[in-house]
Amino acid sequence: MSTIRIDTTTPYEVMIGSGILKDLGEVIRREIPKAESAAVVTDTNVSGYYLQTALDSLNAAGLRAVSFELPAGEQSKNFAVYEEVLSFLAQEKITRSDAVIALGGGVAGDLAGFAAATYLRGIACVQVPTSLLAMVDSSVGGKTAIDLPEGKNLVGAFYQPRAVLCDVKTLDTLPEDVFRDGCAEVIKYGILSSPELFMHLTKNGRGFDRISVIEECVRIKADVVAEDERDNGVRQTLNLGHTFGHAVEAESDYELSHGQAVAVGMAMIVRAGSRFGITGESCRDRVLECLKIFGLPVSVDKQASELLPYVMKDKKRRGSQISLIVPKDIGDCVIMPASLEEAGVWLKAGCGE
Ligand code: GLY
Repeated sequence: MSTIRIDTTTPYEVMIGSGILKDLGEVIRREIPKAESAAVVTDTNVSGYYLQTALDSLNAAGLRAVSFELPAGEQSKNFAVYEEVLSFLAQEKITRSDAVIALGGGVAGDLAGFAAATYLRGIACVQVPTSLLAMVDSSVGGKTAIDLPEGKNLVGAFYQPRAVLCDVKTLDTLPEDVFRDGCAEVIKYGILSSPELFMHLTKNGRGFDRISVIEECVRIKADVVAEDERDNGVRQTLNLGHTFGHAVEAESDYELSHGQAVAVGMAMIVRAGSRFGITGESCRDRVLECLKIFGLPVSVDKQASELLPYVMKDKKRRGSQISLIVPKDIGDCVIMPASLEEAGVWLKAGCGE
């Protein structure tokens, strides 16, 4: 097992290994020594595979373990389910010294993290991600949220977990398309800051070395989050491919998965970047090639005019400015502030218009 320290205002460790879910109880004992109870929040897909192992481990460590299962899927990240989780914690008499365990993918992690951030004004949370996307991105860095009908992740808090336990063995039961979604985020880290990682991914495709790749992605995220915990500067680079990607995802009414949309978003930004002389041609071609090797899409049959309204609604917009993250080369990206009009011009170039 390896550990990577996340140096935020409240530092914590990400533990990465195979078969380490059974150590969950010991982790809680060590990181939250006063806890008497642990409330596991998971989803109906993950529970059948991993809930019992988690509960057994917590019980073996002398903790009272209770669990709440959300219906699997993004539609659970709403106020009604959030309220149900809070009521469950209250009914189970979870106290300030106890812990919430988020066991699952991004939905369980975001929702349980937000419940932990707000229940009794904040109790300890441990993230146990079971999807590739959650391991390399959403479980690390303290972003927690639920959705509104007006958009995804519009209500939330920065709330760092006490620990993150990544058992890569849990990826064995992940459906292939969900694994591929996470691959888009993994490729993103290569483009952002690691030519070596990018080369390894291009060479091995989906057969990449899981432990070392997840470690490298978490290391990259750790550096970024330590420098900019509240997302006011360098953390925005983690948004590579997301501005146009979110537009594509929302325009498709979420028919297109998040990973597919991010892949299209990254392809669009390197196409536009190369048109405007920022992205090198070789970088553009290598990004497109890598996405294709992973079976990820690099375009959608949409006009810029259809996507533009969704870009305007981008939740990361600050006033009338949007930050576009543009690769110059593999491992070297810049934050480019753009007016709404400029973003529209980039969108057109990204659509090949
Ligand atoms: N998912 C991007 C971030 O954590 O900032």
